[in-house]
Amino acid sequence: MKILAIETSCDETAAALLHAKDGSFVMKKNIIASQIDIHKQYGGVVPEIAARNHVPVILPIIDKAMGKETPDVIAVTNGPGLATSLLVGVWTAKALSRIYNKPAIGVNHIYGHLVSPFLQKTLTEQKMKKLFPVLSLIVSGGHTQLVLMKSFKEYKIIGQTLDDAAGEAFDKVGKMMKLPYPAGPEISKIAIMGDENTYTLPRPMMEKNNLNFSFSGLKTAAKNVIKEKKLTKKFKQDFAASFQKTVVDVLTTKTLWAAEKYKVKTITLAGGVSANPELRKSFKASFFKQYNLLIAQKQYTTDNAGMIAMAGYFTKKYKIPSSLKVTPNLRLK
Ligand code: KG4
Ligand code: ZN
Repeated sequence: MKILAIETSCDETAAALLHAKDGSFVMKKNIIASQIDIHKQYGGVVPEIAARNHVPVILPIIDKAMGKETPDVIAVTNGPGLATSLLVGVWTAKALSRIYNKPAIGVNHIYGHLVSPFLQKTLTEQKMKKLFPVLSLIVSGGHTQLVLMKSFKEYKIIGQTLDDAAGEAFDKVGKMMKLPYPAGPEISKIAIMGDENTYTLPRPMMEKNNLNFSFSGLKTAAKNVIKEKKLTKKFKQDFAASFQKTVVDVLTTKTLWAAEKYKVKTITLAGGVSANPELRKSFKASFFKQYNLLIAQKQYTTDNAGMIAMAGYFTKKYKIPSSLKVTPNLRLK
């Protein structure tokens, strides 16, 4: 099966072509056009501008992904995300579905993140089935969720943030330090030169077996420290490292508690924040020995269409409820 996937939920215009055959997956193309330079001048994503900028690039990106091939199915993100951005992808998919006379299916963006760690070169569907039960930590700009997967069809959220998402905290704290948008990756860049033990920041809700997260207190604490300080290079590096360590510790500890509680075989890590090198290191150090560990490959961490293609495959195969209706607040389940 040749799956064309389209992803336009936020400010990346993305298309991918996935070949799925006899339980093997080959990502033929995974193309992303980023709008970062456009939104940088505003310090964040401006929804109207994001939608407008998807329009001129979406067809060239799809052409690049497809080459001369034709799809058997078209998978497209229908939520969650920015309404007008999602509209561009969904209606492009609907038009292509008419032209090719092939079905288009809506895919939940978070489900895309959820399956993204399974996109590993040597991992076949037969091998994947042996990995369950799986505990997945999804950490992105909009979501921080611990998901227990019995299979690709049966999964439930067992913990989530009660306020800000981890990525959102990275972005907002980075912005307070006047780092350019998107501040998350900037924090990890400058943190390399900093001392992570300089500042002690709150780690809320760390009573054992509470699997929910809260990052707004951390954000407020960060604000209070930052407003007292001159934004020197040294301060920014030390504070970035201390903040990052706090978030990484919380994410790793709660994942460990959940893994023990639910006696899982495998731990997976996904979402934009999983691009963070310290978080990846921490997961490797903490879980490598006792669990199978799948960390999303870098190209599948921040928003991409490759993960939507994979999610489209499972959505179709397991008849996971889906729709082509643009749903900005779509939930995982
Ligand atoms: O998954 P994603 O691309 O979009 C959403 O679905 O939200 O995640 C984007 C988030 C942003 O908050 C961004 O700052 C964060 O992922 N991010 C990082 C890093 N790279 C991206 N956060 C920390 N360290 C990074 N290296
Ligand atoms: Zn995302």
